[in-house]
Amino acid sequence: MARLLSALVALVMVAQTAAFAPSSWVSTRSTTKWGARVQQAPQPRTGLAQNECLVVMSAGSGMGIIIAGAPASGKGTQCARITEDFGVVHLSTGDLLRAAVAAGSDLGKEAKGFMDSGKLVPDQLVIDLIAEKLKSDDCKTKGWLLDGFPRTAAQAQALADTGAKCDCFISLNVPDSDLVDRVVGRRTDPETGDIYHMTFNPPPEGEIADRCTQRSDDTEEKVKVRLEQFHDNVNAVVDFYKDVKTEVDGTAKPDEVYTTIKSTLDAATTKVPAVSVPTSPIEGMKMGTSGLRKKVPVVKGDPMYLKNFVQSIFDALPKDDILGGTLVVGGDGRYYNKEALQTIIRMAAANGVGRVWVGKEGLISTPAVSAIVRERGAGAAFGAIVLTASHNPGGPDGDFGIKYNTGDGAPAKELLTESVYDFTTKITRVLDLEDAEEVDLGTVGTSTVGNMVVEVIDPVDDYLAVLEACFDFPALKALVSRPDFSMVFDAMHGAAGPSAKRILGEALGVPLDSLMNCVPSEDFGGGHPDPNLAYAEELVKVMGLDGGGMQTAAAKSAPDFGAAADGDADRNMILGKGFFVTPSDSVAILAANGKAAIPQFAGGINGVARSMPTSGALDVVAEALDFSFFETPTGWKYFGNLMDCEQYTPFICGEESFGTGSSHIREKDGMWAVLAWMSVLANANPDESAPLVGIQEIVQNHWAKFGRHFYVRYDYEAVDSGAAEEVMETIRGHFASIANEGDKGIMFGGMKCNSIEEFLYVDPVDDSVTSKQGLILSFVGGARAIFRLSGTGSEGATIRLYLESYEEDVAKQSANPQEVLLPLAAAALEASNLAALTGRASPTVIT
Ligand code: AP5
Repeated sequence: MARLLSALVALVMVAQTAAFAPSSWVSTRSTTKWGARVQQAPQPRTGLAQNECLVVMSAGSGMGIIIAGAPASGKGTQCARITEDFGVVHLSTGDLLRAAVAAGSDLGKEAKGFMDSGKLVPDQLVIDLIAEKLKSDDCKTKGWLLDGFPRTAAQAQALADTGAKCDCFISLNVPDSDLVDRVVGRRTDPETGDIYHMTFNPPPEGEIADRCTQRSDDTEEKVKVRLEQFHDNVNAVVDFYKDVKTEVDGTAKPDEVYTTIKSTLDAATTKVPAVSVPTSPIEGMKMGTSGLRKKVPVVKGDPMYLKNFVQSIFDALPKDDILGGTLVVGGDGRYYNKEALQTIIRMAAANGVGRVWVGKEGLISTPAVSAIVRERGAGAAFGAIVLTASHNPGGPDGDFGIKYNTGDGAPAKELLTESVYDFTTKITRVLDLEDAEEVDLGTVGTSTVGNMVVEVIDPVDDYLAVLEACFDFPALKALVSRPDFSMVFDAMHGAAGPSAKRILGEALGVPLDSLMNCVPSEDFGGGHPDPNLAYAEELVKVMGLDGGGMQTAAAKSAPDFGAAADGDADRNMILGKGFFVTPSDSVAILAANGKAAIPQFAGGINGVARSMPTSGALDVVAEALDFSFFETPTGWKYFGNLMDCEQYTPFICGEESFGTGSSHIREKDGMWAVLAWMSVLANANPDESAPLVGIQEIVQNHWAKFGRHFYVRYDYEAVDSGAAEEVMETIRGHFASIANEGDKGIMFGGMKCNSIEEFLYVDPVDDSVTSKQGLILSFVGGARAIFRLSGTGSEGATIRLYLESYEEDVAKQSANPQEVLLPLAAAALEASNLAALTGRASPTVIT
């Protein structure tokens, strides 16, 4: 029975410690992919040297399984199912001894007295019995399932001496108090061997019930002796198998008990090699709206930090997804990404993943991850681990981030992120393949780690195919080739670089010298990879703007179109010649022009959505064009359910925080926004000989038609968390008085505030409720001031104050938003007492 290579004794089967996660959050998409995944699961390698860290099954051999548990814990009940599914030979010492007693053999005669009194029969009798049975060809070829053996340390030792190797030791746990009832009520069909219980599972009335018998040792009195014998020996036996042991709760319903056993055996069958490394929980691993964000020194400072979190992800996922499944891994290229990816790849192998798709150089932009999960190999991946802290700075003292995307390409929903967090609080071990060689991430190709296949893939191929299906590339190419059109794109040294070169450069012909900062760097060139007026300084200057979004003298010679992406390329900023397009306007204008300008929407747009703090520009378009409209909490994941509803797709959505996208994937998408704006430009300029209609003209025409929403955001970064909470509480303190004042409202800074509400979202698709999403102060005339605490920073709190007002009068639409909104800002600051509570006289950033 030497089925495992002897050099690998120290390796631990993954199944022995694997936790079992509920599968309630498995998306339909992921479950329907199971068939495809099975076909694509890699085959074990053959011809391996013994010192390679792989476990293989020798040809023709089955598993060695032991099922243990107290009398009547359900061993026999479960053995019937295991035998059926795994084809192993069932050897029940109890059944064999009872048969010997019935046959009146010498063995039977010797055993009878012991059995009748509930005592164990002498070791040597059962050892000889089992040793003989294990020699059979059937046991050798099909494998075996020992039920009721070994029951003592001597029996366990004797089994080991035969050379038989146990792959899986299942321990059924049922409290003694339940067992007496089970014993007394048990009945067995002597013809079929089927086990029944007079209360829990009565035999069918009539012939079967009539022939059922009760065992002579199934009395209350004898079971007490049997239990004593069990407790006297159990620890010594379990000690033998601690490396391959799985504890199973035997009090659940038989079907549920079997589900757990089956997963364990499925895992063991895949022969996943793993080293189980002891660990203990590390505090503070709760994911925010975009995953876990921490400072690099925090993550690197503890060698178990990353491992604990990654293991908790694996523990929280359904085992059916992981075992033999395909996982996408990649990141935005920030400091520590490559090192972390090597760890994640090893741990994926140790947890039973069948294949990993990792981006070349470890790079995959966030939207490309979503595209790969959804489309590559007909959607074969069960999910993705993405290393990104988005637009936060990188480098050794910068930020590190890690998040999980589910099989539909969307960021994990709360049910799963909460479960991951829960696992981080009780983790005791991580599964790793510490000695595995590093994967060469620099070359596209295939290798193996443990049993797992690693494919280093081009990070743009699948993403480009998705975008080609959305846009008219020849029309965009024609726009780019116009002699009177020029554009620049700033990848901010992030993951957008490779996509920009391939899509804008190679596919659309944008000159390479117009693609700025397209070489990814671990510290984003020392910059802050956030595509806004403050941080995309270089681009903003080239486009003829100052940090406040106002035109400079350079505007005259500036390119017609400019865009930037953030570190992981899901955000975007759109600029015209000396002109800034607010993200709130951007999504509204794309929605207004989508049908005419973008092939993806040729059949019409059915749904649009914006996050709560995004301006109302989209609302006006939705009403005019009769789109279903939704206002969601901040966080892209809230758009996911809506996008999955056919009646709302095609779907466009956006957030004021420079996020724009559509239902083509389940992440925001910077490059999609750039191509969408180029499509709007191409559509506005059908005649190549006519003067170019630029971004500014397009936006101003939109305002003239729909009105303008002036919009500004103040960020107060790294504020003391307690002070930030006090600011929010101060505003909540006005709830009662504003309710009392009714129509009179309350005056703040000379402006009349007529309502204050705390935003609460009820998902229209699944009715889930998300509360405390920000405080909205509404003023006479439609102006809004919104306060929100952001969860995307890595330390302290960020207070965001969003200010907006509406202007229909075209003559007044060209004013400077910052000036227009100053009185509203003063009113909001008075209402919140922010300056006094935080000690901040002015915001860190204004965008
Ligand atoms: P053996 O026949 O092995 O008896 P046992 O270990 O006491 O186990 P049982 O067969 O009573 O229970 P089970 O766990 O199989 O439970 P079952 O599925 O039937 O050994 C008998 C005797 O032989 C020993 O006392 C000893 O003398 C001798 N012997 C055997 N092996 C030996 C060895 N290695 N060394 C020395 N002596 C040895 O379920 C029980 C009942 O509960 C059924 O009615 C079932 O319908 C019900 N049930 C099952 N699962 C559930 C569930 N999940 N919920 C509710 N009810 C359930």
